[in-house]
Amino acid sequence: MQWIKVLDYLPEPESMVQIKVYHKKINITQYQHQFYAFASKCPHAGADLSSAWCEEGYIICPIHRYGYCLKTGKGKIGQGDYLRTYPLKIEDNGVLSK
Ligand code: FES
Repeated sequence: MQWIKVLDYLPEPESMVQIKVYHKKINITQYQHQFYAFASKCPHAGADLSSAWCEEGYIICPIHRYGYCLKTGKGKIGQGDYLRTYPLKIEDNGVLSK
């Protein structure tokens, strides 16, 4: 799969941008000067993560407040689940994913 430009700007810190790539909805956020992409639905019960927030390196679901590691997608201890993450790179003031 090749890199494609998914945003022609850089999201503001801790903002949540939802886009569609290859028929999949993904969310992109910036947290502590790094950009992360992950599935738009929470693996716990399918909540829309567009209103989720970042806290101590985790994305926090707004419904039951489960947390998923921004880098790996791994759920917090005891959850036993994962949030799908996607690779990103920044080029020419835009965001690329695949
Ligand atoms: S739906 Fe996200 S934590 Fe339950």
